[in-house]
Amino acid sequence: MSYCGVFAGTCLLFNLFGVIGTESLSSPENVTRLLDKLLLNYKKEVRPNFGVEPLYIETDIYIRSMGPVSEQNMAYSMQCYFRQRWYDERLKFNMENVSQVTLSNHFLKYIWKPTTYFLNGRRSVQHNITVPNAFVRIRNDGLLYMSRRLTINALCPMMLMNFPMDKPVCPLYIGSYGYTIKDIIYLWKYGNDKSVELAEEITMSQFDMHFIEANNLTDSTLGEEYSILEVYFHFKRHLGFFMIQTYLPCCLIVCISWVSFWINRDAAPARVLLGVTTILTAAAIGIMIRDGLPRVSYATGLDVYLNVCIVYALAAMIEFAVVHYMLGRSETAGGNAEEEDLLLTPEPTTVAIHEHEGDGEITTFLQPPDDLEEQISSKKHRSFFYRFFGNRFRYSRKKNRVHEIALQGGYHESRIDIWARYIFPSSFILFNIVYWTWYMRKRY
Ligand SMILES: *[C@@H]1O[C@H](CO)[C@@H](O)[C@H](O)[C@H]1NC(C)=O
Ligand SMILES: *[C@@H]1O[C@H](CO)[C@@H](O)[C@H](O)[C@H]1NC(C)=O
Ligand SMILES: *[C@@H]1O[C@H](CO)[C@@H](O)[C@H](O)[C@H]1NC(C)=O
Ligand SMILES: *[C@@H]1O[C@H](CO)[C@@H](O)[C@H](O)[C@H]1NC(C)=O
Repeated sequence: MSYCGVFAGTCLLFNLFGVIGTESLSSPENVTRLLDKLLLNYKKEVRPNFGVEPLYIETDIYIRSMGPVSEQNMAYSMQCYFRQRWYDERLKFNMENVSQVTLSNHFLKYIWKPTTYFLNGRRSVQHNITVPNAFVRIRNDGLLYMSRRLTINALCPMMLMNFPMDKPVCPLYIGSYGYTIKDIIYLWKYGNDKSVELAEEITMSQFDMHFIEANNLTDSTLGEEYSILEVYFHFKRHLGFFMIQTYLPCCLIVCISWVSFWINRDAAPARVLLGVTTILTAAAIGIMIRDGLPRVSYATGLDVYLNVCIVYALAAMIEFAVVHYMLGRSETAGGNAEEEDLLLTPEPTTVAIHEHEGDGEITTFLQPPDDLEEQISSKKHRSFFYRFFGNRFRYSRKKNRVHEIALQGGYHESRIDIWARYIFPSSFILFNIVYWTWYMRKRY
Protein backbone atom coordinates (compact mmCIF):
# COMPACT_ATOMS: atom_id res chain seq x y z
CA MET A 1 0.00 0.00 0.00
CA SER A 2 2.85 2.38 0.77
CA TYR A 3 3.92 1.58 -2.73
CA CYS A 4 0.71 3.21 -3.95
CA GLY A 5 1.40 6.29 -1.92
CA VAL A 6 4.82 6.81 -3.41
CA PHE A 7 3.96 6.05 -6.99
CA ALA A 8 0.48 7.48 -7.36
CA GLY A 9 0.61 7.35 -11.13
CA THR A 10 1.55 3.73 -11.43
CA CYS A 11 -0.95 2.86 -8.74
CA LEU A 12 -3.76 4.09 -10.95
CA LEU A 13 -2.57 1.80 -13.69
CA PHE A 14 -2.44 -1.08 -11.21
CA ASN A 15 -5.98 -0.51 -10.14
CA LEU A 16 -7.18 -0.56 -13.71
CA PHE A 17 -6.15 -4.16 -13.84
CA GLY A 18 -7.27 -4.88 -10.35
CA VAL A 19 -3.84 -5.01 -8.85
CA ILE A 20 -3.69 -3.82 -5.27
CA GLY A 21 -0.03 -4.35 -4.62
CA THR A 22 2.88 -6.69 -4.94
CA GLU A 23 5.36 -7.85 -2.45
CA SER A 24 8.29 -6.07 -3.98
CA LEU A 25 8.88 -3.45 -6.55
CA SER A 26 8.40 -4.35 -10.11
CA SER A 27 7.26 -2.47 -13.14
CA PRO A 28 3.48 -2.46 -13.58
CA GLU A 29 3.77 -3.39 -17.22
CA ASN A 30 5.48 -6.53 -16.12
CA VAL A 31 2.56 -7.52 -13.87
CA THR A 32 -0.02 -6.62 -16.47
CA ARG A 33 1.71 -8.72 -19.00
CA LEU A 34 1.95 -11.49 -16.46
CA LEU A 35 -1.78 -11.51 -15.71
CA ASP A 36 -2.67 -11.38 -19.39
CA LYS A 37 -0.40 -14.31 -19.96
CA LEU A 38 -1.90 -16.26 -17.06
CA LEU A 39 -5.47 -15.81 -18.21
CA LEU A 40 -4.72 -16.65 -21.80
CA ASN A 41 -6.32 -20.02 -22.51
CA TYR A 42 -7.67 -20.12 -18.94
CA LYS A 43 -11.09 -21.72 -18.69
CA LYS A 44 -12.65 -20.61 -15.43
CA GLU A 45 -15.38 -23.25 -15.72
CA VAL A 46 -12.88 -26.07 -15.26
CA ARG A 47 -11.65 -26.78 -11.80
CA PRO A 48 -7.91 -27.02 -11.09
CA ASN A 49 -6.50 -30.53 -11.11
CA PHE A 50 -9.39 -31.66 -13.26
CA GLY A 51 -9.27 -35.37 -13.87
CA VAL A 52 -6.11 -35.77 -11.86
CA GLU A 53 -7.02 -35.76 -8.20
CA PRO A 54 -9.46 -34.09 -5.84
CA LEU A 55 -8.79 -30.46 -5.05
CA TYR A 56 -8.09 -29.68 -1.42
CA ILE A 57 -9.58 -26.48 -0.16
CA GLU A 58 -8.21 -25.23 3.11
CA THR A 59 -10.59 -23.03 4.99
CA ASP A 60 -10.48 -20.86 8.03
CA ILE A 61 -12.82 -18.33 9.55
CA TYR A 62 -12.05 -15.27 11.58
CA ILE A 63 -15.14 -14.00 13.34
CA ARG A 64 -15.32 -10.26 13.81
CA SER A 65 -18.66 -10.08 15.54
CA MET A 66 -21.19 -12.55 16.71
CA GLY A 67 -24.89 -12.27 17.11
CA PRO A 68 -27.67 -11.64 17.46
CA VAL A 69 -28.91 -15.10 18.28
CA SER A 70 -32.65 -15.16 17.83
CA GLU A 71 -34.83 -17.74 19.54
CA GLN A 72 -37.83 -16.60 17.59
CA ASN A 73 -36.27 -17.25 14.19
CA MET A 74 -34.11 -20.09 15.47
CA ALA A 75 -31.21 -18.40 13.73
CA TYR A 76 -28.04 -16.49 14.44
CA SER A 77 -25.78 -14.24 12.48
CA MET A 78 -22.14 -13.36 12.54
CA GLN A 79 -19.75 -11.24 10.60
CA CYS A 80 -16.54 -12.91 9.53
CA TYR A 81 -13.63 -13.16 7.16
CA PHE A 82 -14.15 -16.32 5.23
CA ARG A 83 -10.86 -17.54 3.78
CA GLN A 84 -10.13 -20.33 1.36
CA ARG A 85 -6.88 -21.58 -0.13
CA TRP A 86 -6.32 -23.91 -3.03
CA TYR A 87 -3.76 -24.68 -5.68
CA ASP A 88 -4.35 -23.78 -9.28
CA GLU A 89 -1.41 -25.02 -11.37
CA ARG A 90 -2.52 -22.86 -14.26
CA LEU A 91 -1.80 -19.69 -12.32
CA LYS A 92 1.83 -20.44 -11.56
CA PHE A 93 4.16 -17.69 -12.60
CA ASN A 94 7.80 -16.85 -12.56
CA MET A 95 8.86 -13.28 -12.10
CA GLU A 96 11.95 -11.87 -10.62
CA ASN A 97 11.59 -10.51 -7.07
CA VAL A 98 7.81 -11.15 -7.04
CA SER A 99 6.64 -14.06 -4.93
CA GLN A 100 2.95 -13.18 -4.74
CA VAL A 101 0.43 -10.75 -6.17
CA THR A 102 -2.61 -9.45 -4.37
CA LEU A 103 -5.53 -8.68 -6.63
CA SER A 104 -8.82 -7.00 -5.99
CA ASN A 105 -12.22 -8.58 -6.36
CA HIS A 106 -12.35 -7.72 -10.09
CA PHE A 107 -9.85 -10.42 -10.83
CA LEU A 108 -12.12 -13.00 -9.16
CA LYS A 109 -14.42 -12.78 -12.17
CA TYR A 110 -11.79 -14.39 -14.40
CA ILE A 111 -10.74 -17.39 -12.38
CA TRP A 112 -12.31 -20.58 -11.10
CA LYS A 113 -13.55 -20.36 -7.52
CA PRO A 114 -14.80 -23.09 -5.19
CA THR A 115 -18.56 -23.41 -5.14
CA THR A 116 -18.69 -23.12 -1.40
CA TYR A 117 -21.98 -22.54 0.32
CA PHE A 118 -23.45 -22.75 3.79
CA LEU A 119 -25.76 -25.71 4.09
CA ASN A 120 -27.83 -24.17 6.87
CA GLY A 121 -27.39 -20.59 5.70
CA ARG A 122 -30.42 -18.35 5.45
CA ARG A 123 -29.65 -14.95 4.08
CA SER A 124 -25.95 -14.38 4.15
CA VAL A 125 -24.54 -11.32 2.45
CA GLN A 126 -21.21 -10.25 1.12
CA HIS A 127 -20.45 -6.68 2.00
CA ASN A 128 -20.19 -4.31 -0.96
CA ILE A 129 -19.30 -1.06 0.77
CA THR A 130 -17.29 0.67 -0.50
CA VAL A 131 -16.26 -2.05 -2.93
CA PRO A 132 -17.11 -5.75 -2.66
CA ASN A 133 -15.08 -6.91 0.33
CA ALA A 134 -13.06 -9.62 -1.27
CA PHE A 135 -9.54 -10.14 -2.52
CA VAL A 136 -7.40 -12.86 -3.94
CA ARG A 137 -3.70 -13.43 -3.57
CA ILE A 138 -1.72 -15.54 -6.01
CA ARG A 139 1.57 -17.06 -4.99
CA ASN A 140 4.12 -17.94 -7.65
CA ASP A 141 3.64 -21.66 -7.01
CA GLY A 142 -0.05 -21.37 -7.89
CA LEU A 143 -1.51 -21.13 -4.39
CA LEU A 144 -4.60 -18.98 -4.36
CA TYR A 145 -5.82 -17.34 -1.21
CA MET A 146 -9.26 -15.81 -1.32
CA SER A 147 -10.80 -13.86 1.49
CA ARG A 148 -14.30 -12.48 1.71
CA ARG A 149 -16.05 -10.49 4.36
CA LEU A 150 -19.45 -12.00 4.96
CA THR A 151 -22.36 -11.68 7.28
CA ILE A 152 -23.56 -15.21 7.69
CA ASN A 153 -27.07 -15.79 8.84
CA ALA A 154 -27.65 -19.44 9.63
CA LEU A 155 -30.28 -21.63 11.18
CA CYS A 156 -29.77 -22.72 14.73
CA PRO A 157 -32.32 -25.25 15.92
CA MET A 158 -32.77 -24.81 19.64
CA MET A 159 -34.41 -26.98 22.23
CA LEU A 160 -35.82 -24.53 24.72
CA MET A 161 -36.76 -27.02 27.45
CA ASN A 162 -34.24 -25.46 29.79
CA PHE A 163 -34.76 -21.89 28.63
CA PRO A 164 -33.41 -19.53 29.97
CA MET A 165 -30.89 -21.79 31.70
CA ASP A 166 -30.06 -23.44 28.39
CA LYS A 167 -26.85 -23.58 26.43
CA PRO A 168 -27.72 -23.22 22.76
CA VAL A 169 -25.43 -24.88 20.25
CA CYS A 170 -25.47 -23.23 16.85
CA PRO A 171 -23.97 -25.07 13.90
CA LEU A 172 -22.53 -23.87 10.62
CA TYR A 173 -22.10 -26.38 7.80
CA ILE A 174 -19.82 -25.57 4.89
CA GLY A 175 -19.81 -27.62 1.73
CA SER A 176 -19.55 -27.50 -2.01
CA TYR A 177 -22.59 -26.91 -4.13
CA GLY A 178 -22.23 -29.62 -6.73
CA TYR A 179 -18.74 -30.99 -6.46
CA THR A 180 -18.60 -34.33 -4.73
CA ILE A 181 -15.76 -35.66 -2.64
CA LYS A 182 -14.10 -36.90 -5.85
CA ASP A 183 -13.65 -33.30 -6.92
CA ILE A 184 -13.36 -31.20 -3.81
CA ILE A 185 -12.27 -32.00 -0.28
CA TYR A 186 -12.56 -29.36 2.40
CA LEU A 187 -10.05 -29.20 5.19
CA TRP A 188 -9.54 -26.84 8.08
CA LYS A 189 -6.42 -24.84 7.45
CA TYR A 190 -5.03 -24.95 10.97
CA GLY A 191 -6.56 -28.21 12.09
CA ASN A 192 -9.89 -28.68 13.75
CA ASP A 193 -9.02 -26.76 16.88
CA LYS A 194 -7.63 -23.48 15.64
CA SER A 195 -9.27 -22.75 12.32
CA VAL A 196 -12.25 -20.88 13.63
CA GLU A 197 -10.96 -17.88 15.45
CA LEU A 198 -12.89 -15.34 17.41
CA ALA A 199 -11.97 -11.69 17.71
CA GLU A 200 -11.12 -10.94 21.29
CA GLU A 201 -13.41 -8.01 21.82
CA ILE A 202 -16.57 -9.95 21.00
CA THR A 203 -19.39 -9.37 23.43
CA MET A 204 -22.95 -10.48 23.07
CA SER A 205 -25.82 -9.00 24.98
CA GLN A 206 -27.36 -12.24 26.03
CA PHE A 207 -24.70 -14.88 25.60
CA ASP A 208 -21.17 -15.92 26.38
CA MET A 209 -19.26 -17.94 23.86
CA HIS A 210 -18.56 -21.10 25.79
CA PHE A 211 -16.40 -22.83 23.22
CA ILE A 212 -16.15 -23.56 19.50
CA GLU A 213 -15.96 -27.01 18.06
CA ALA A 214 -14.93 -27.63 14.46
CA ASN A 215 -14.87 -30.83 12.44
CA ASN A 216 -14.45 -32.23 8.96
CA LEU A 217 -16.55 -35.09 7.70
CA THR A 218 -18.02 -36.83 4.72
CA ASP A 219 -21.71 -36.60 4.21
CA SER A 220 -23.64 -38.65 1.73
CA THR A 221 -26.77 -37.33 0.09
CA LEU A 222 -28.61 -39.13 -2.71
CA GLY A 223 -25.82 -41.63 -3.12
CA GLU A 224 -23.17 -38.94 -3.59
CA GLU A 225 -20.56 -38.19 -1.02
CA TYR A 226 -19.75 -34.63 -0.15
CA SER A 227 -17.02 -33.19 1.97
CA ILE A 228 -18.43 -31.04 4.74
CA LEU A 229 -16.89 -28.78 7.33
CA GLU A 230 -18.85 -28.11 10.45
CA VAL A 231 -18.52 -25.64 13.28
CA TYR A 232 -20.49 -25.70 16.51
CA PHE A 233 -20.75 -22.53 18.53
CA HIS A 234 -21.53 -23.36 22.11
CA PHE A 235 -23.24 -20.45 23.80
CA LYS A 236 -24.15 -19.88 27.38
CA ARG A 237 -27.06 -17.62 28.11
CA HIS A 238 -26.78 -14.81 30.63
CA LEU A 239 -29.38 -15.13 33.34
CA GLY A 240 -29.29 -11.54 34.52
CA PHE A 241 -31.94 -10.23 32.17
CA PHE A 242 -34.43 -12.93 33.14
CA MET A 243 -33.63 -12.57 36.82
CA ILE A 244 -34.42 -8.88 36.76
CA GLN A 245 -37.27 -8.95 34.27
CA THR A 246 -39.08 -12.13 35.21
CA TYR A 247 -38.00 -14.17 38.18
CA LEU A 248 -37.75 -11.33 40.66
CA PRO A 249 -41.07 -9.63 39.76
CA CYS A 250 -42.78 -13.01 39.75
CA CYS A 251 -41.43 -13.84 43.19
CA LEU A 252 -42.50 -10.49 44.56
CA ILE A 253 -45.99 -10.84 43.18
CA VAL A 254 -46.37 -14.21 44.84
CA CYS A 255 -45.19 -12.64 48.11
CA ILE A 256 -47.70 -9.83 47.73
CA SER A 257 -50.50 -12.34 47.26
CA TRP A 258 -49.70 -13.70 50.72
CA VAL A 259 -50.47 -10.35 52.29
CA SER A 260 -54.07 -11.42 51.93
CA PHE A 261 -53.63 -13.94 54.76
CA TRP A 262 -52.99 -11.11 57.20
CA ILE A 263 -56.00 -9.11 56.14
CA ASN A 264 -59.22 -9.45 58.03
CA ARG A 265 -61.35 -12.15 56.50
CA ASP A 266 -64.35 -9.85 56.58
CA ALA A 267 -62.60 -7.44 54.26
CA ALA A 268 -63.73 -9.24 51.16
CA PRO A 269 -63.21 -6.36 48.70
CA ALA A 270 -59.62 -5.84 49.83
CA ARG A 271 -58.71 -9.48 49.60
CA VAL A 272 -60.46 -10.10 46.30
CA LEU A 273 -58.83 -7.06 44.77
CA LEU A 274 -55.41 -8.14 45.96
CA GLY A 275 -55.96 -11.64 44.61
CA VAL A 276 -57.17 -10.54 41.20
CA THR A 277 -54.41 -7.95 40.83
CA THR A 278 -51.66 -10.43 41.61
CA ILE A 279 -53.08 -13.03 39.21
CA LEU A 280 -53.35 -10.51 36.40
CA THR A 281 -49.88 -9.10 37.00
CA ALA A 282 -48.33 -12.55 37.00
CA ALA A 283 -50.16 -13.34 33.77
CA ALA A 284 -49.05 -10.05 32.22
CA ILE A 285 -45.40 -10.73 32.99
CA GLY A 286 -45.80 -14.08 31.26
CA ILE A 287 -47.32 -12.57 28.15
CA MET A 288 -44.65 -9.87 28.00
CA ILE A 289 -41.72 -12.24 28.26
CA ARG A 290 -43.10 -14.83 25.82
CA ASP A 291 -43.31 -12.19 23.12
CA GLY A 292 -39.81 -12.87 21.88
CA LEU A 293 -40.02 -16.62 22.06
CA PRO A 294 -41.09 -19.10 19.40
CA ARG A 295 -44.39 -20.88 19.93
CA VAL A 296 -43.00 -24.18 21.02
CA SER A 297 -45.35 -26.92 22.10
CA TYR A 298 -43.54 -27.76 25.31
CA ALA A 299 -43.02 -25.82 28.50
CA THR A 300 -39.74 -23.99 28.85
CA GLY A 301 -38.10 -23.49 32.21
CA LEU A 302 -39.45 -19.96 32.25
CA ASP A 303 -42.99 -21.15 31.52
CA VAL A 304 -42.84 -23.53 34.45
CA TYR A 305 -41.87 -20.75 36.82
CA LEU A 306 -44.39 -18.26 35.47
CA ASN A 307 -47.19 -20.78 35.66
CA VAL A 308 -46.30 -21.74 39.19
CA CYS A 309 -46.43 -18.04 40.11
CA ILE A 310 -49.90 -17.75 38.62
CA VAL A 311 -50.99 -20.91 40.40
CA TYR A 312 -49.75 -19.46 43.70
CA ALA A 313 -51.63 -16.22 43.16
CA LEU A 314 -54.69 -18.25 42.22
CA ALA A 315 -54.33 -20.48 45.26
CA ALA A 316 -54.24 -17.46 47.54
CA MET A 317 -57.48 -16.34 45.96
CA ILE A 318 -59.10 -19.74 46.37
CA GLU A 319 -57.90 -19.85 49.95
CA PHE A 320 -59.81 -16.66 50.56
CA ALA A 321 -62.90 -18.09 48.91
CA VAL A 322 -62.74 -21.03 51.32
CA VAL A 323 -62.19 -18.76 54.32
CA HIS A 324 -65.08 -16.59 53.29
CA TYR A 325 -67.34 -19.57 52.77
CA MET A 326 -66.47 -20.93 56.20
CA LEU A 327 -67.22 -17.55 57.74
CA GLY A 328 -70.64 -17.50 56.13
CA ARG A 329 -71.36 -20.99 57.36
CA SER A 330 -70.25 -20.36 60.88
CA GLU A 331 -72.37 -17.22 61.10
CA THR A 332 -75.50 -19.02 60.01
CA ALA A 333 -74.66 -21.85 62.37
CA GLY A 334 -74.61 -19.30 65.18
CA GLY A 335 -73.13 -20.93 68.26
CA ASN A 336 -70.59 -22.91 66.31
CA ALA A 337 -68.87 -19.82 65.10
CA GLU A 338 -66.26 -19.79 67.77
CA GLU A 339 -64.98 -23.17 66.75
CA GLU A 340 -63.64 -21.63 63.60
CA ASP A 341 -62.46 -18.53 65.34
CA LEU A 342 -59.34 -17.80 67.15
CA LEU A 343 -59.37 -14.83 69.30
CA LEU A 344 -57.26 -11.82 69.28
CA THR A 345 -58.19 -9.71 72.20
CA PRO A 346 -59.51 -11.76 74.99
CA GLU A 347 -60.57 -9.03 77.29
CA PRO A 348 -61.09 -10.11 80.80
CA THR A 349 -64.56 -8.96 81.50
CA THR A 350 -66.63 -8.39 84.44
CA VAL A 351 -69.67 -10.47 84.38
CA ALA A 352 -72.68 -9.60 86.32
CA ILE A 353 -74.71 -12.43 87.58
CA HIS A 354 -78.19 -11.67 88.62
CA GLU A 355 -79.61 -14.03 91.12
CA HIS A 356 -83.13 -14.04 92.19
CA GLU A 357 -83.42 -15.11 95.74
CA GLY A 358 -86.74 -14.66 97.12
CA ASP A 359 -87.86 -11.10 96.64
CA GLY A 360 -84.40 -9.54 97.04
CA GLU A 361 -82.23 -9.26 94.02
CA ILE A 362 -78.55 -9.87 94.61
CA THR A 363 -76.16 -8.82 92.02
CA THR A 364 -72.74 -10.29 92.24
CA PHE A 365 -69.89 -9.06 90.18
CA LEU A 366 -67.44 -11.72 89.32
CA GLN A 367 -63.98 -10.51 88.58
CA PRO A 368 -61.84 -12.80 86.53
CA PRO A 369 -59.14 -14.32 88.68
CA ASP A 370 -56.00 -12.25 88.77
CA ASP A 371 -53.79 -15.01 87.50
CA LEU A 372 -55.89 -15.47 84.41
CA GLU A 373 -55.69 -11.81 83.64
CA GLU A 374 -51.95 -11.87 84.03
CA GLN A 375 -51.65 -14.96 81.94
CA ILE A 376 -53.59 -13.41 79.15
CA SER A 377 -51.82 -10.10 79.15
CA SER A 378 -48.40 -11.71 79.24
CA LYS A 379 -49.33 -13.87 76.31
CA LYS A 380 -50.80 -10.95 74.52
CA HIS A 381 -47.45 -9.25 74.42
CA ARG A 382 -45.41 -12.37 74.27
CA SER A 383 -43.72 -11.95 70.95
CA PHE A 384 -43.98 -10.53 67.55
CA PHE A 385 -43.72 -14.00 66.11
CA TYR A 386 -46.92 -15.16 67.76
CA ARG A 387 -48.75 -12.09 66.76
CA PHE A 388 -47.51 -12.40 63.21
CA PHE A 389 -48.41 -16.00 62.71
CA GLY A 390 -51.71 -15.89 64.45
CA ASN A 391 -53.01 -16.15 67.93
CA ARG A 392 -53.23 -19.81 68.30
CA PHE A 393 -51.51 -19.54 71.62
CA ARG A 394 -54.15 -17.34 73.08
CA TYR A 395 -57.34 -18.48 74.51
CA SER A 396 -60.19 -17.18 76.45
CA ARG A 397 -62.61 -18.84 78.65
CA LYS A 398 -65.29 -16.50 77.59
CA LYS A 399 -65.43 -17.34 73.98
CA ASN A 400 -68.92 -16.21 73.24
CA ARG A 401 -68.36 -12.77 74.62
CA VAL A 402 -65.07 -12.25 72.90
CA HIS A 403 -66.41 -13.52 69.65
CA GLU A 404 -68.94 -10.74 69.83
CA ILE A 405 -66.24 -8.19 70.52
CA ALA A 406 -64.19 -9.51 67.68
CA LEU A 407 -67.10 -9.25 65.31
CA GLN A 408 -67.74 -5.69 66.35
CA GLY A 409 -64.08 -4.74 66.33
CA GLY A 410 -63.78 -6.11 62.85
CA TYR A 411 -60.68 -8.22 63.32
CA HIS A 412 -61.22 -11.80 62.92
CA GLU A 413 -58.91 -14.63 62.08
CA SER A 414 -59.46 -17.90 60.43
CA ARG A 415 -57.51 -21.06 61.19
CA ILE A 416 -57.13 -21.59 57.45
CA ASP A 417 -55.46 -18.20 57.14
CA ILE A 418 -53.06 -19.06 59.91
CA TRP A 419 -52.09 -22.32 58.28
CA ALA A 420 -51.76 -20.58 54.94
CA ARG A 421 -49.19 -18.22 56.45
CA TYR A 422 -46.93 -21.19 56.98
CA ILE A 423 -47.81 -23.41 54.07
CA PHE A 424 -47.65 -20.92 51.22
CA PRO A 425 -44.21 -19.41 51.89
CA SER A 426 -42.57 -22.69 52.87
CA SER A 427 -43.90 -24.57 49.86
CA PHE A 428 -42.83 -21.73 47.59
CA ILE A 429 -39.32 -21.79 49.01
CA LEU A 430 -39.27 -25.55 48.55
CA PHE A 431 -40.42 -25.14 44.96
CA ASN A 432 -37.63 -22.64 44.33
CA ILE A 433 -35.00 -24.98 45.70
CA VAL A 434 -36.25 -27.83 43.53
CA TYR A 435 -36.63 -25.61 40.48
CA TRP A 436 -33.17 -24.06 40.60
CA THR A 437 -31.34 -27.28 41.36
CA TRP A 438 -33.19 -29.04 38.54
CA TYR A 439 -32.55 -26.41 35.88
CA MET A 440 -29.05 -25.50 36.97
CA ARG A 441 -27.80 -29.07 37.08
CA LYS A 442 -26.71 -29.12 33.42
CA ARG A 443 -25.37 -25.62 33.38
CA TYR A 444 -22.00 -26.20 34.94
C1 LIG B 1 10.44 -6.69 -15.96
O1 LIG B 1 10.79 -5.37 -16.27
C2 LIG B 1 12.19 -5.15 -16.27
C3 LIG B 1 12.42 -3.69 -16.55
O2 LIG B 1 11.85 -2.93 -15.54
C4 LIG B 1 12.80 -6.02 -17.34
O3 LIG B 1 14.18 -5.83 -17.36
C5 LIG B 1 12.47 -7.45 -17.11
O4 LIG B 1 12.91 -8.25 -18.15
C6 LIG B 1 11.00 -7.67 -16.94
N1 LIG B 1 10.73 -9.00 -16.48
C7 LIG B 1 9.77 -9.77 -16.98
C8 LIG B 1 9.61 -11.08 -16.34
O5 LIG B 1 9.04 -9.39 -17.85
C1 LIG C 1 15.56 -7.90 -7.34
O1 LIG C 1 16.06 -7.62 -6.06
C2 LIG C 1 17.43 -7.53 -5.96
C3 LIG C 1 17.81 -7.30 -4.52
O2 LIG C 1 16.77 -7.17 -3.69
C4 LIG C 1 17.94 -6.40 -6.87
O3 LIG C 1 19.33 -6.37 -6.84
C5 LIG C 1 17.45 -6.62 -8.28
O4 LIG C 1 17.78 -5.53 -9.09
C6 LIG C 1 15.97 -6.79 -8.31
N1 LIG C 1 15.52 -7.12 -9.67
C7 LIG C 1 14.58 -6.43 -10.31
C8 LIG C 1 14.26 -6.89 -11.72
O5 LIG C 1 14.01 -5.47 -9.83
C1 LIG D 1 -23.00 -7.11 -3.69
O1 LIG D 1 -22.84 -7.09 -5.07
C2 LIG D 1 -23.20 -8.30 -5.72
C3 LIG D 1 -22.93 -8.14 -7.18
O2 LIG D 1 -21.89 -7.29 -7.40
C4 LIG D 1 -24.67 -8.59 -5.47
O3 LIG D 1 -25.03 -9.83 -6.03
C5 LIG D 1 -24.92 -8.64 -3.97
O4 LIG D 1 -26.29 -8.79 -3.73
C6 LIG D 1 -24.45 -7.36 -3.34
N1 LIG D 1 -24.59 -7.47 -1.92
C7 LIG D 1 -25.24 -6.58 -1.19
C8 LIG D 1 -25.29 -6.81 0.27
O5 LIG D 1 -25.76 -5.60 -1.68
C1 LIG E 1 -10.25 -34.51 8.30
O1 LIG E 1 -9.05 -33.77 8.23
C2 LIG E 1 -7.87 -34.52 8.44
C3 LIG E 1 -6.71 -33.57 8.35
O2 LIG E 1 -6.92 -32.40 9.06
C4 LIG E 1 -7.76 -35.65 7.42
O3 LIG E 1 -6.62 -36.42 7.68
C5 LIG E 1 -9.01 -36.50 7.47
O4 LIG E 1 -8.96 -37.46 6.47
C6 LIG E 1 -10.23 -35.62 7.29
N1 LIG E 1 -11.42 -36.46 7.44
C7 LIG E 1 -12.42 -36.43 6.55
C8 LIG E 1 -13.56 -37.31 6.87
O5 LIG E 1 -12.37 -35.74 5.57
